[in-house]
Order: sequence, then C-alpha cells, then structure tokens
Amino acid sequence: MRYVVTGAAGFIGSQLAEQLLERGDEVVGIDCFTDYYDPALKEENARGIDVRRVDLAEDDLDFGGFDGVFHLAGQPGTRSFGAVFPRYLRRNVLATQRVFEAAVAARTKVVWASSSSVYGDAERYPTPEDVEPRPNNPYGITKLACEHLAATYTRLFGLDAVALRYFTVYGPRQRPDMAFARIVEALVRSEPFEVYGDGSQSRSFTFVGDVVHATVRALEAAAGVYNVGGGEEASVREAIALLEEISGRRLDVRYGPPATGDMRRTKADTTRFERATGWRATTALRPGLEAHWSWAAGRVAAR
Ligand code: UGA
Repeated sequence: MRYVVTGAAGFIGSQLAEQLLERGDEVVGIDCFTDYYDPALKEENARGIDVRRVDLAEDDLDFGGFDGVFHLAGQPGTRSFGAVFPRYLRRNVLATQRVFEAAVAARTKVVWASSSSVYGDAERYPTPEDVEPRPNNPYGITKLACEHLAATYTRLFGLDAVALRYFTVYGPRQRPDMAFARIVEALVRSEPFEVYGDGSQSRSFTFVGDVVHATVRALEAAAGVYNVGGGEEASVREAIALLEEISGRRLDVRYGPPATGDMRRTKADTTRFERATGWRATTALRPGLEAHWSWAAGRVAAR
C-alpha cells in the first residue's frame, strides 16, 4: 500500500513512517521543517524516509494514487498565547483544511492527530469522547476547529477521516519542549528543572510505540473521533520520581507558578477505540520511561 505521512520528520510521524516501511508499505513523507524545534533533530528523525519539503498551508497537494494519508503535521505546544496565535491558525486549521480538500478530491482516507488538549479541564475522568470539549489554549482550540472541519467535510463531501486524540505522548524522539525531554536533559546535565505549579497535575502519559500502533490500526476505524491514551495515569511528581530511580540521579527540582493553558489532569477512556480496532496501550510507564531514558541520555551525553 502507498501512504502519505505529514509531519514525517517529527516525533511521532517519523516513527510511524518507519513502522509502515518496515511492514512493506510505500511511504511519501511531507514536512516543512519549521524552526519550532531543533532542525538537526528533525533531520536525524527523517533519515531513511523519503521526506519532501511541503508547506501544507500553501503548496499544491495531490493525494491521487495513495491508499491513505496520515496527517500528523501541526503546530504543537500547549502553553502558548499571544503573538504566536496566527501560527496555530496556519499550521493547524489552514493546513488541515487543505489536507481534507485534497483527500476528498482523491477519495483517500485520512487518519489525523487531534489531541487530548481539546478537553481542557474536563467534566469527568476517565474522559470519553462525548464530554463537552473546553480547550484551555490556542493549540487545543485549533485542534478542536480541525475536528469541526472533519465532521463537516464528512457530512457534506463524504470525507473519511479518523481523528485520534493523542494523550501526552513520550518516548524516544520526544519534542524537546515537553516535560520528559526536559527532565532527562536536566538529569544528564545536572541542571535544574522547573515544575509548573506543585507537580500534582497528572496525565495519561502514552508511549510512542503504542501511539504508532494505534495510528496504523486507525485505518480500520469508521470516520469519527477517538481517544488514544495510555492506561496509567501519573502526576508530574510521580514521573520525576520514576525517572530519578531509572537514571540513578537526583533531579534539582524548582517549583514555579502554574503555566497558563496547562490542564490539571487528563485520563483517557479508550473504550471507543478499543471496540473499533482492538487496540489498547500495553506499555506501562516504567518500561516506557526506561526506553525514553536510554535513547535520550545517550543522545544528550553525545552532544
Ligand atoms: C502534550 C503535547 O505537548 C501536545 O502536543 C499534546 O497534544 C498534548 O500533550 C496533549 O495530550 O494534548 P502536555 O500534556 O502539556 O502537552 O505535555 P508535556 O509538555 O509533557 O507536559 C506535561 C506536564 O508537565 C504538564 O502539566 C506541564 O505543566 C508539566 N511541565 C512541562 C513542567 O512542569 N515543566 C516543564 O518544563 C514542562
């Protein structure tokens, strides 16, 4: 089969592309290599994948001849307000709208990355897909806008689109602005790590290998919205304690003010996706963090 993977030089997209190649699929990767984070890391991620420089918000898109599009490109970051807002509009809303247009024209299925950030502070936990979304930040707001676009394109133009609400993904190649990447960097360099708030905020942390499997399995799911989250919830403080144990080092923790836009808690109810595909997260936090630590520690030390 032939697939397009957008965001193919990114954290999740690159590992998805590798998984598809490994099972014998043909993959055309797309990435616009924004400077949001370390271009060298993206070049490293993209090694061995046919990645073309395409700006989804303005370049021509033709998905003719492909069996599916995995749309993982986007502007991440859950704690950004103010002047950066147009970037979220362009790289999330406009880029996704153009992907949907091209997919309708080519009659191609789209599996795409939405986010647990659409929930904001949810009204119940574990959170199923049908609770009212109340995003706390521009990232969550623009991902929710993309979900509305998908639903409308499905109703009016027959788009077949599966939205996956990923819950805080970690593991090898994690984006450097995310908590675990920063903690590992601080541990290796004996530098301080700032916790936003008191560290009691918690997440359904999800291992990247599980997320890649879920994303491939999503080809089997009917159009709609699905949670993809790890089975185990942990607070930031608990995750730090585990990483200290795994690394055998003490983290120099500083407590700062809570970050505007941050969610207090996420806990995924994944029943809908389990019923649709049989998938369920299988990597517990400790082995997942061990894999993350051994990848990241080697990399940080080598720099
Ligand atoms: C993550 C990703 O960044 C988003 O792209 C993704 O869509 C989102 O998950 C999601 O699931 O919707 P976030 O949960 O904020 O967002 O992930 P981290 O950056 O790993 O943060 C986890 C927790 O650690 C947050 O509560 C954050 O406040 C805390 N943190 C993070 C710190 O205390 N200090 C830091 O330096 C970084």
